[in-house]
Amino acid sequence: MRSKRKDEHVEYALKQDKFVSDFNRVHLVHQALPSYDLEDVSLKSHYLNHDFALPIYINAMTGGSDKTLEINKKLAKMAQKHQLAMAVGSQHVALDDPKYEASFRVVRDVYPEGFLISNVNANATVEEAQRAIAMIDANALQIHINPAQELSMDEGDRHFKHWAQHIKAIVESVSVPVLIKEVGNGLSFETVEKLISLGVEHVDVSGRGGTNFIWIENARSQFKRYDYLENWGLSTIEALLDNQEHMKSIEIIASGGIKTPLDVIKALVLGAKAVGISGFFLKAVMDDNLIVIDHFIEDLRKLMILVDVQKISDLSTVRYTISR
Ligand SMILES: Cc1cc2nc3c(=O)[nH]c(=O)nc-3n(C[C@H](O)[C@H](O)[C@H](O)COP(=O)(O)O)c2cc1C
Repeated sequence: MRSKRKDEHVEYALKQDKFVSDFNRVHLVHQALPSYDLEDVSLKSHYLNHDFALPIYINAMTGGSDKTLEINKKLAKMAQKHQLAMAVGSQHVALDDPKYEASFRVVRDVYPEGFLISNVNANATVEEAQRAIAMIDANALQIHINPAQELSMDEGDRHFKHWAQHIKAIVESVSVPVLIKEVGNGLSFETVEKLISLGVEHVDVSGRGGTNFIWIENARSQFKRYDYLENWGLSTIEALLDNQEHMKSIEIIASGGIKTPLDVIKALVLGAKAVGISGFFLKAVMDDNLIVIDHFIEDLRKLMILVDVQKISDLSTVRYTISR
């Protein structure tokens, strides 16, 4: 059942094209007399307690079936080419049945030197979190919290109040950085405040505007009753704005609806320390259209010239306006 769901999520994510992000509401101030040459620009970034060449990473998607093993292999090859960090999809299917472990471990096989991120949900016990990390020899762990997806899924979870205690126990026990993420409905100020009280130091707001799991679960459902909920949640921009205060105390990462290099730069200007990308990368690797990813990365550097910034940490000085 879970394995079939993995394939369906990929299938529907690839079909879905009606959702647009609100990144076009953010306007960065153009600078017409650059202080740097293109080669002077550095995209070096620091997040999840680690130094990276680039501020973008492949966010959690797949694993758990034969088809997604192949997708994970392609994503890992792409990650290796660009030295990107990469998260795998939820590993519960393999925690419950070891025959699915290979579909996750393939990422470590292809990308032995990579910074890899495990993924579990907040029902996971400490023991399960540790097994997920060991399965791919992960450098960090994501825990996804996704009540809107679960509630709109026919077979989804209906029990949530234990999640906070599970997160706290895992954060206290595992030896790698723990990143709490949504799956496209955003983390609000209040949610992040609760997470901070549980000891969390890294969050990915993963807001609305890209892959939409309410739409996907509704399409999979036999009842199709959640059209009205498709716009539920905070957009990535709204979540970043909502959490400005928290950026002083913890690391906020952005994802959800990132489709252009300009979206990445805007998220970084709004205070994100790194940017996760799922749907856009999935489409590119499934179409074998890897040149768009080369161009995407090349253009990040060009955009730094247009806002007259040499290094990622200086993006916080870029002026911007937000239209309604
Ligand atoms: C096919 C697919 C499967 C996903 N599976 C997971 C998952 O298992 N765990 C998770 O935390 N997020 C999962 N996500 C959510 C992404 O990590 C991300 O939060 C969300 O897609 C928003 O980013 P995007 O708009 O760039 O796709 C999945 C996304 C896609 C497209």
